[in-house]
This record gives sequence, C-alpha cells and structure tokens, in this order.
Amino acid sequence: MDLKGKAHCVYKRIIEKDASFLTDFFALSDKKRKEILEQLDAKALECLTNIIKTSKQKIFDEHHKKFLEIASANINTPVYLIDETLVEENMKVLRYVKDRTGCKILHALKAYATFATFPIMRKYLDGVCASGLNEARLGFEKFKKEVHTFGAAYKHEDMEDIIRYSDVLIFNSFYQLENFGNLAKEKGKGVGIRVNPGYSDIKVEIYNPCAPYSRLGIIYEIFKKQYNKFSHIIDGLHFHALCEQNADSLERVLDSFKKLFGPFLMKNKNLKWVNFGGGHHITRDDYDIELLISLIRDFKRDFKVQVYLEPGEASVLNAGVLIATVLDIVENKKKIAIIDASAEAHMPDVLLMPYRPYVLNSSEEEKKQHDYRIGGPSCLAGDIIGDYFFDKPLKPGDKIVFKDMALYTIVKNTTFNGINLPDIAVIKKSGEIKVIKSFGYRDYLSRQS
Ligand SMILES: Cc1ncc(COP(=O)(O)O)c(C=O)c1O
Repeated sequence: MDLKGKAHCVYKRIIEKDASFLTDFFALSDKKRKEILEQLDAKALECLTNIIKTSKQKIFDEHHKKFLEIASANINTPVYLIDETLVEENMKVLRYVKDRTGCKILHALKAYATFATFPIMRKYLDGVCASGLNEARLGFEKFKKEVHTFGAAYKHEDMEDIIRYSDVLIFNSFYQLENFGNLAKEKGKGVGIRVNPGYSDIKVEIYNPCAPYSRLGIIYEIFKKQYNKFSHIIDGLHFHALCEQNADSLERVLDSFKKLFGPFLMKNKNLKWVNFGGGHHITRDDYDIELLISLIRDFKRDFKVQVYLEPGEASVLNAGVLIATVLDIVENKKKIAIIDASAEAHMPDVLLMPYRPYVLNSSEEEKKQHDYRIGGPSCLAGDIIGDYFFDKPLKPGDKIVFKDMALYTIVKNTTFNGINLPDIAVIKKSGEIKVIKSFGYRDYLSRQS
C-alpha cells in the first residue's frame, strides 16, 4: 500500500477510535510514522492524541491490579517493582511528542537510573541528561546514546572524564565556561550555558531554580553583559524551571525566556539548540500534550533551533511500586502499622516535599473503616509515610503497595540505621518477575569505614 493509502487507513481507524492499531503504528520506522502524521489533519491528530492517552490509562489500570496480585503472592520485601510494559507506555507518549515536533528528548538520570530497563527506553529516546561525572559515565556505558551533562559547578580533576563521556557540556557560569569550554570544544563536544528564564510557577522553594538568590542558571543582567565575549563557543541555551507541571506552566516560562533571551537567539546563528529542561509531567493523565506540541513547534519555527526536553519523572511516572510488609501494629491513640520500608531511607521525597504517597487498596477518607498511620522501622520519630483507611484491619505479614515509586527513590535511598535497601525487581514484558538486585550487610559496610 502506498503512503496515501496507509495514511487513509490510519485516519479511518483514528476516527473510529480504534486503539488496536497503536502497536503497529509504533512498530513502524520513525520515517514512516512521521510521514503518516504529516498526512493527518488537526482533527485526526487531536483524536490520535486522545486515543494514545486513553489506551495508556487502560493499560496502567490493568497493571496496577497486577501489582496487588504480585504483592499478595510470595515476594520478598521491601522491593521496588518496576513494570517494563508501563515504562514502555510512557516512552510511547514521549516518542509521539518527538514525532509531532521533531524535538529531541533525553531521560534525566537523576530521577531514575535502573539500567535494566534502558534497552526499552533507548528505542524511543535520544539519550540522557546527566548531573556530573558518574551519571555521564552511566549514560555513556549503559544508555549508549547522546549524553548531555549539566553540573552546577564542575571539579577541575573530573573534567577530562566528563568531557569524554558527554556529547554536550552545559555550564552554569561564564567562569566555568571560560575554564573548561575550550577544552570541550577541542574534543569536538557541544557547549551550552544554563540561564535563569526569569519566571517559574513552582511554589515549593527548595524545588524552584528561579527563586530569589538561586544559584542555578545565569541571570539575564549578567548574561547580557558577558555573552558577547563567549558567543563563539556557545552552541545552545538551557533552562530548567518546572517541577511536575503541565504545559500551561511551560508556556509562561517560555514567555519570560523569549522576552529575555529571544533577541540573542535571533541575532546569533551560533545558537543551534535550546533545552527546555525537565519537570514536564507529559505522561500524566491530565497533561495537555497538544499545547506542548504547539509550544515546541512555534518555538522551532520562530527561532530555527533544535529543541530538547529532559524529563525524568515522566519517563517512569506510575510505572513502579514499592511493596512493603507490615511488621507490627502498635497503639498510641490510634493504630500505627510499622512496615519494613522507611520514608526516610527508601522514599525520602515523602518527607522532603512533603507528600503522601498513594497506597493501592486504601483510601484517604473514612469511607473505608479501618484507620492506620503507616510508619517505617527507623529511629526517626518522623519516619511516617501517612494516614490511610483500609477495608479490613491490617495484621503483621500484610503487604502494603505504595504507588509511583520508581522515580527519585532508588537514586536517592540510603542505609540510615543500617536498614537494608529494598530489592529491585522488574516485571518483564513476558510477565516474568526478575529480581535484578538484592542488598545486604556488604552494601551497608561498603559505605562506612
Ligand atoms: C536540570 C534538570 N533537568 C532535568 C530534571 C528532571 O526533572 P523531572 O524529573 O522533574 O522531570 C531536573 C530535575 O531536577 C533538573 O534539575
């Protein structure tokens, strides 16, 4: 069948809201998929976006039920359990944004670095972004595609290796650029500079790189004074100003960025790319994918540059859980379940952000009868995960399944109190569950002296 015929078939299936063709669609070569997308009108494209979203939601709902079945069977806990199928579903959404816009998407290793699932991710993405030497090396060795590194300040002695493992180096100051930029260029690497876009919607100050006195990203007043001196070695600009946000937040950040830095992009043809950073919650159910697509397309049209996104959370959002076992129930005015996983050691953002993770089969409200506070086994009084209601009373040996635990957990956990790190297990696409790593005394010992 010729391209027109194929596009017509796809069009028909889209209009009929037939999700079954998505498997074939994503199996097409990149070139073919893009050609078909170019043949579709705005109505069909919007329809396709909705089909991709609803099909993904359905698969996530089904697989979340499986997490409960696996937890009630015989599985060692605590364990981070990552579902390859769900990672791939997220990847398809990111790939679709790439197909529609021609942007490049890098996975942020800081959020998730479980390289057992990289073979699936690398099929869909352009590479990774790293925060320094170790992540750059991991990206180089295990992801084996583009590596873009941004560090708030690099150490002199690390530079040779960082340059070796990275394709692009992004600097946080003109001082660091002056020291290391030429070296990177001599080795044929790309060079960028991170700027402060001057606006962010992030309300939690420790997560806001545009908060007063932020050290992340050069502010406009300094950029405008010094840029000309270094413009010959700068290939691109980077900003990062989102955290778990929708495309409307990106629109506001872009308005500010364009006002401040747009004239430099217009004037200087050395600038070939702009990296919109991370924090785009693209794979969340309510994310406005169409708005993101139009923002990227408009930006590329206006400034004639390549656009990069580097989400971390979106890659593995809701694709993994942490399963724990109730060890004891103690009482102090209410029932408190002590489990074998710790907020402090195994899910630190629960305390830092703070937030209350969702527990499968529980409720926030009194609709369910049995009320428990769930806490970890450590000595920290505040090692509390949250208050939850259940249908049935909890007892020692029961399993608790915390949702959305692939991101910012494994990369951040500690052995505080000498508590063992959770196993890391993967549900393969075949359904097989593979424990890929277990930890013990040796891991604790290796970090002490
Ligand atoms: C520079 C940079 N890029 C990408 C990310 C990834 O962000 P997220 O995981 O929220 O998408 C972060 C997160 O802090 C970041 O600082």
